[in-house]
Amino acid sequence: MKIRPGTSAMVATAALAALSILAAPMAWAQDEGSIARGGRLYDKWYTETGQEAPKESHALYPKEANYADKPGNNWRCKECHGWDGKGADGAYASGKRYTGIKGIIGMHGGDPAAVVALLKAPAHGFEGLLSDADLSDLGNFVVAGKYGYEAYVSDGKIVGDPAHGGQVYRTVCAGCHGAEGKLPKDMPPLASLVDNPWELMHKVLNGQPKEAMPALRAFDHQAAADVIAYIAAELPAE
Ligand code: HEC
Ligand code: HEC
Repeated sequence: MKIRPGTSAMVATAALAALSILAAPMAWAQDEGSIARGGRLYDKWYTETGQEAPKESHALYPKEANYADKPGNNWRCKECHGWDGKGADGAYASGKRYTGIKGIIGMHGGDPAAVVALLKAPAHGFEGLLSDADLSDLGNFVVAGKYGYEAYVSDGKIVGDPAHGGQVYRTVCAGCHGAEGKLPKDMPPLASLVDNPWELMHKVLNGQPKEAMPALRAFDHQAAADVIAYIAAELPAE
């Protein structure tokens, strides 16, 4: 819009102010809890819902791709569409995770009901496997989750402030993962996972399926990138 001096500029300013008032409550209406749960389902839906993995491989998984005989892998949304939601156009463009399948990012900003319909259709085959609440969380994640991570990952490396990340780590993560990132259970050290910054962003923003781990999604996503930068810079990888 062209802004001229005088009244039209004032009208334009007033219009912008009205828009920002309208925009604020809309941003809050987005349910970050539902989006985060959708993110955990996208990671490993059958663990999040407490089911067994299907016994037969997913019909849409290419027969020649690496995990064709592993239904526990090839039924995960992330296995076909990537942690970055970009499928064959993103981090899975080559290597053992390559399937040639497109991402989910084309439906970002769209209608969650359209995603639900797609997941219930015979090709995806989630009708009967996931509840309406699960499907709704997945729909919210696909349309409103921020999973491209362009602002936080550059050349396959996390972009963040390790000093601030250390503050986040010691207040939010260390209680469960320990000062060195080697706890709990028999998980690999957190610092051994930093070559996959998209997966780490996904886990930190959405939590770990079926675990009490918090999701940082409601905070500025830079806090998640900062904590990963700290893990990469300061914690031992073995
Ligand atoms: C075995 C592989 C596979 C799995 C698992 C899978 N999908 Fe898909 N998905 C596909 C394929 C193939 C398409 C269709 C691509 C096309 O239309 O060419 C697709 C399309 C989509 C699209 C539409 C993308 C677009 O822009 O048109 C969305 C959204 C989507 N899937 C979400 C999911 C979600 C959420 C899950 C997990 C609950 C999931 N998918 C699991 C293979 C898979
Ligand atoms: C309430 C405890 C708790 C807190 C707090 C917590 N986590 Fe976790 N986290 C877990 C558990 C439990 C697992 C799963 C461990 C396993 O599978 O062996 C996990 C898994 C992970 C994983 C995935 C590891 C893998 O191999 O897949 C990452 C990454 C991670 N946490 C990072 C973090 C970061 C970073 C923070 C702080 C922002 C954090 N966690 C806070 C409990 C927690």
